[in-house]
Order: sequence, then C-alpha cells, then structure tokens
Amino acid sequence: MTVLGQTTDLALSAAMREGSLAEHQAAEDSSFMSELLGGRVNEQGYADYLLRLRVAYDTMEQLVRAHRDDAGVAAVHDATLERLAAIDADLDHWVGGTGDRSVDSPAADAYRQRLVDAAAEWPTLLVAHHYTRYLGDLSGGQAIGRILDRTFGLDGAGIAFYDFPEIAKPKIYKDGYRARLDALDLTAEEQERVVDEVRTAFRLNQALFAELGERLPAYAR
Ligand code: HEM
Repeated sequence: MTVLGQTTDLALSAAMREGSLAEHQAAEDSSFMSELLGGRVNEQGYADYLLRLRVAYDTMEQLVRAHRDDAGVAAVHDATLERLAAIDADLDHWVGGTGDRSVDSPAADAYRQRLVDAAAEWPTLLVAHHYTRYLGDLSGGQAIGRILDRTFGLDGAGIAFYDFPEIAKPKIYKDGYRARLDALDLTAEEQERVVDEVRTAFRLNQALFAELGERLPAYAR
C-alpha cells in the first residue's frame, strides 16, 4: 500500500517499483522512445542514444565495482550484467570502429555527475541506479531489442546491448534480484532514500530522452 507517497510499508523491491510507476510511464511515453519503437528514428538517432547510455553505464559500472564492499551494492553487483563492452560493440556497428565516443550532452553529464555524487553521499544509493537500468534492460528492454532488430533488419547485429548471454531466463534472474534487495537490512528512512533515488534515476533517463526528442526532425527516417 502506498500512502501519501510513502512506500516504507512495502518490501524494498516493491517500494522501488511502486514508487517509480509514474516515472516509468513517463519514460515509456517519451516522444523519442515512441518514435524509436515506431521505426521513425534513423541510425544517427540510435547512435546518439547509445553514446549517452555509454556515459551512464561506464560511470555506473566503475562506481559499482569501486563500492562492491558496501552491503547494498554487494547484494546486486554482478559482472555479467555489465553493458559497456556491449555498447562499444554496438557502436562499432552504428558509427564504425574508429568513431569518437565522447558526446556533447548536458543530460549525460548530469547523469554522470549524479552517479558520482550519489556514491559519495551513500554508496547504497547506487543500488537505485543499478535497479533502474538493469531491471529495465531485462524487462521492457528485451522487447525493445526485438523491435529494433525487426525495424532495422539487423539480424542480431548492433543490439548486443539487449543480449545477456549468461542470463538464460530474465524472469528468474529478476526474482532473485528482488529477493536480494528485500533481504537488505535498511531502516524505513534508508529505504525511502533508495526509492527517492530510483525516481531520480528515472528522471535522469527521461532527460536523456528529452534531449534526443528535441532532435527528432534531424533523426527522421
Ligand atoms: C518504451 C519503453 C519501455 C517499455 C515498453 C517498458 C516496459 C516494461 C515492462 C513491460 C516491464 C515489466 C516487465 C516484468 O514485469 O517483468 C518493465 C519493467 C521495468 N522497466 Fe520498463 N519499459 C520501458 C522503458 C523503461 C525505461 C526507459 C526504464 C529506465 C531507464 C525502465 C525501467 C524498468 C524497470 C526498472 C523495470 C522493473 C520494474 C520492477 O519489476 O521492479 N523501463 N518495463
């Protein structure tokens, strides 16, 4: 039950999901996402999306590794989730192997900065970012990968990002992940901080979409 935005009476995994339903819906409804999934974004648009995600994953994965002794981070850390190598392999496909991977993006910069600040405030906040990206990748992300494959006629090329070769059954993996979250020993106040950070993580993703959404005319396909 959610009362006045408080989700402390829920297990952590349920509080994270319930506490970010509106933000999740907003992400699904973003114009960039709907145009991308509708097949109306060109290769440049998808490459620009990947370049922004690269900043977020590169930063998050480094911080998670650096803070793996934190009990919260340790509960979710799993090197087989890491996406940086897959993103780089995909960028080889979308922009070519020698392309510059830096990106001029205030939204990606803000995402990176929040990850750094969150880790410095309390490393367990990284769990919120980890959950928002990887559980999303293992959920809706799986469908997004299939749609891109079909839309661009990729035959599996350039979509390594959606492929977790060591996770045969995402649903079972996600159940285990949620059980590990729920076994964490957090106070009600700490739990609320993590849930707040999930909302922050969604907003940072939303800002990436908004930035790309402004360029839709240039990405028309
Ligand atoms: C068009 C875009 C999207 C679609 C169609 C979509 C769809 C879905 C669906 C169907 C689920 C539930 C899967 C299940 O019950 O196993 C889900 C879960 C989730 N999605 Fe998305 N999603 C989208 C975008 C996003 C984005 C942009 C993020 C975050 C950056 C995200 C994060 C998550 C998370 C964290 C979950 C797990 C919720 C939980 O069970 O705790 N999604 N998504």
